[in-house]
Amino acid sequence: MNSRRQFLAANASALLAPMLSSVARANTKNYPYAEFEQRIAKKDFRGMTKETLPTPCMVVDIDLFEKNLKTMADYAKTAPIYLRPHVKVHKSVDIARRQMALGAIGITAATIAESELMSHGGIKGVLWTKQPASTNNLMRAIALTKKDPTFMFVVDDFAVAANVEEAAAAAKVKARVAVSVFAGLTRQGIANGMPALELAQKVASSKNISFEGYMAYSGAASHTKGWEARKKRSQDDLAGVNETVALSKKAGLEVKIVSGGSTGTYNMDHEFGLTELECGSYVFMDSIYRTVGGKTNDAVYTDFDNSLSVITSVDSKHHPGQVTTDYGNKAMAQLTDTVKGMSWLQVDKQGAEYGLLKWKDGGGEIKVGDRVEIFCSNLDMSTNCYDRYYIAKGNDIVDVWPIMGRGGAAQR
Ligand SMILES: Cc1ncc(COP(=O)(O)O)c(C=O)c1O
Repeated sequence: MNSRRQFLAANASALLAPMLSSVARANTKNYPYAEFEQRIAKKDFRGMTKETLPTPCMVVDIDLFEKNLKTMADYAKTAPIYLRPHVKVHKSVDIARRQMALGAIGITAATIAESELMSHGGIKGVLWTKQPASTNNLMRAIALTKKDPTFMFVVDDFAVAANVEEAAAAAKVKARVAVSVFAGLTRQGIANGMPALELAQKVASSKNISFEGYMAYSGAASHTKGWEARKKRSQDDLAGVNETVALSKKAGLEVKIVSGGSTGTYNMDHEFGLTELECGSYVFMDSIYRTVGGKTNDAVYTDFDNSLSVITSVDSKHHPGQVTTDYGNKAMAQLTDTVKGMSWLQVDKQGAEYGLLKWKDGGGEIKVGDRVEIFCSNLDMSTNCYDRYYIAKGNDIVDVWPIMGRGGAAQR
């Protein structure tokens, strides 16, 4: 390390102090900021509070998070329906392990990278919900099957099924495959009825593939506003799937799983033929998801709480009705985000590293150096931009969990 760097490292807290507001300074003066990363590596969180964190950063309220996990796990047990939670929203082995500990039968993944990450992290029963259409994905799916025979993926295409059989035979493995069927979302899924049955029969008769059942994600239902309307949409979207399942059973196929569902439909889909739920967002809850309305409250979906927020710092204040923050485009700021405890503020964007908070009407005072917590609109997108979750118990940081398997050529 050169001498300038050494000086900066040794004096980091002293150099930073003049920039912090008096409130922030009071809270951080006893914290050895130069040791921040070493302490995290050692899991030594003494004295680390929300005020000491670099911003923008993601913070998880551990009490609300655990409540969300328990609510879903308890519901699944009583429904009853199995739970194979989707990890796309959190990309965290730490969280997946907690979901498994509460009774999940596995996890659902959106990419082969997420599947590898979870399986390598010791999670059994990974279901990848995209078919391995490219050579790279096919090789990786087969390699993962070899390493972890509990891994499962889907196909919705005869040619892909044939490629899977060939690759599995060459690798001397038996791939576990579910047929992805249409459930109202036009992005994937073979048509129900005879097309789906014929693909299932092809899969089931392949020597190196084991037919597991069907994957039917009714994504259009999940964000339908109003609980009754959502229930109707989910039932309608799954009607064809049930016909396919009935046809399959009549044809002598064993249908082990019918996987689908979402946070929005978790408490209805067991009535519509699903055997397991792939809910994901419930762990943190997006601000937009909260507007779909629930069974007991038609305006706000209160079943799960916003357990994750982004902390941003107020960096500048010179113009009436607005302050500048560090929650900008790179931090995935969205106009539909909301501000925790300050409904009178509107989130706005200014640039890559700059965001704005604008006064809608009324409201209190905000000073330079203050910190504000934001509830994100779409956490699938937002978590992909951050490296870690700071886990908070009240104001204290009690743990740090890495966000893994994010973008990057090698991983996708
Ligand atoms: C295949 C699949 N299953 C389930 C879900 C449900 O997720 P959520 O609970 O976040 O609505 C999603 C969401 O994108 C999905 O893509």
